[in-house]
This record gives sequence, structure tokens and C-alpha cells, in this order.
Amino acid sequence: MPSYLITGASRGIGWEFLSQLASNPSNTVIGLVRNKSATETRGDISDYNSLEAAAAETEKITGGGLDNLIANAGAVAHWDAYDPIGILAQQPEILEKELMHLLRVNVVGNIHLFSAFTPLLRRGQTKKVIAISSGQAALDMIPKLQIELSSLYSISKTALNTAVAKFSAQYNKEGILFMSVCPGLVDTGRYDDGMRGITLEVAFYINVTNIYNTYRNSGTARTLKKMFYSFAEYAPNFKGASTTEAAVKDVLSVMDKASVDNGDGGSFVSHFGNQQWL
Ligand SMILES: NC(=O)c1ccc[n+]([C@@H]2O[C@H](COP(=O)([O-])OP(=O)(O)OC[C@H]3O[C@@H](n4cnc5c(N)ncnc54)[C@H](OP(=O)(O)O)[C@@H]3O)[C@@H](O)[C@H]2O)c1
Repeated sequence: MPSYLITGASRGIGWEFLSQLASNPSNTVIGLVRNKSATETRGDISDYNSLEAAAAETEKITGGGLDNLIANAGAVAHWDAYDPIGILAQQPEILEKELMHLLRVNVVGNIHLFSAFTPLLRRGQTKKVIAISSGQAALDMIPKLQIELSSLYSISKTALNTAVAKFSAQYNKEGILFMSVCPGLVDTGRYDDGMRGITLEVAFYINVTNIYNTYRNSGTARTLKKMFYSFAEYAPNFKGASTTEAAVKDVLSVMDKASVDNGDGGSFVSHFGNQQWL
């Protein structure tokens, strides 16, 4: 009866993990949310005490250990979405506030999470920790595709990957797998604002040139056009954002195959299980 704990299970990709894993009756699945019907607050990953309380509750549910931890919860900034870092840096106070928030949730929060749950993982069977990272943190891709977008978010996910690798370095010898996996580009409504209501997937189909013509004078259109073209060049078969259903299936398959014995500890891979990010 494998047990799973998923953070950020309230919506998006986290909700889909919860649904797919819970559809197998032999799984014990615990979804951690930070606002449980406003009755009690648990699972804000930037609050260590709340995570310790969640670990104690998990112990009661599973009878001791935890087999699998999916560190999905994450903060995504909108402020850094379309401007390059030099432009963002012209607003130093906002930049600092946004970056500190991303680091607090995506890095410090997940370090707290791993720390609070490692004692349970030690007593688990499969002992797997998967951190949901982003291809935006694939450092070779930034110069290769000249990706100017989402600088602060990318910085936070790169730091998360480092934290994951450090946890792996310490706990690999105890048989606990820590690895980072990017779910691919997934349509959870994130790009709606920049697209004036057009989702990334739809935008891809209706042709980047149309978007550019419609929003000819907007910086957003120029940045997006550039991004689409570089994506198309990098991965000619890429057709836009996937559904949460497909992305979660992919990540669970990567997680299933990964093991300490195969040398996967500390690695950072895509939803394909390799370094192909789209
Ligand atoms: N969508 C993509 O294309 C994509 C690509 C690469 C990586 N990812 C990563 O995949 C993960 C899920 O993304 P998503 O697209 O499903 O995002 P989403 O729809 O914005 O959901 C984010 C989830 O994280 C939770 N969360 C945010 N801050 C939190 C905090 N301080 N403590 C606890 N939970 C918190 C949210 O909870 P509330 O409901 O309480 O706000 C929500 O459940 C993130 O780590 C994201 O960086 C996504």
C-alpha cells in the first residue's frame, strides 16, 4: 500500500497528481494544501512549524513512514514573466521583494519540507522525493535559446535543483532518492494574462505571426514571438503546452523508473526522463 504526499495539491498540476494517484485504491494519498477550507492552515511550505505538524499528521495516517514525496507546490511570479533581467533590475525594490518571495517558497520552503519529512521517508519503502522543477532552470538552454523571460523564477528553480542535489548527496547512501523533474510546459492558465486571454496552446496553433500582428506594438508580443520561434527551432515537434493529465502521467512514469541504484539521485530531468525539455 504505497503512500504519497503531494504539496500544492489544491489546483493545477498538484491537483492532477492527487487525482491520478488516488484513482488507484491501493495507494494512500495525502494532499497538502495551505488553506483547508479556511478551518485550519497546514502546508504553507514557507512555514516550518506548519510542515512539522503536517509530518506528524502524515505519520498518524500512514502508521509511521512515507514512501513518496512530491514537492509540487511552487510560487510563480508574473512580474518577471516578459521583461529581461536588465529591465526588471531598473526597479530594484520590486525585484528584491519578488525574488525573496520566490526564494522563500521555492527554495527555503522545500528545504523545510525535505527536512520535516526525511524521518518519515527513512521508514518508508520506495523512499522517493521528486521536486517539481522547471526547464527554465536548465542552464545550458538559457544561452542556447537566448531565453530572457522569467529570470527570477528561473533563479529560484535553479537554487531548488541545487538543494535537491545536496539532499541527495547526504541521503543517497541511506537509499533515499532526491531528484528534480520538469513537468514540461503545462497549461494551468498561467500564460493567460500575457496572451490577453489566449492560452499558450491555442496561440501556438493560430500562428505566432498572427499574434505579433495583433499586438504589434506590445513588448509582450515581441518577447513571446521570439520565445515561440526558439522553441520551434529547438523542438520541431513541440505543439504547445500539454494538459495537466498528460504532464502528470509523464512525471509519474519518470518517478516510477528512477532509483538510487540507477544513479538518478540528485539529477534534474525533463518529463521525458532526459535533458530534452520540450
Ligand atoms: N505549469 C507549467 O507550465 C510548469 C512548468 C514547469 C514547472 N512547473 C511547476 O509545477 C508546479 C505546479 O505548477 P502549476 O502550474 O500547477 O501552478 P499553480 O496552478 O500556480 O499551482 C501552484 C500550487 O502551489 C501552491 N503554493 C504556492 N505557494 C505556496 C506556499 N507558500 N505553500 C504551499 N503551497 C503553495 C498553490 O497553492 P494555493 O492554491 O494555496 O495558492 C498551488 O496549489 C510548480 O512548482 C511550478 O513551478 C509548472
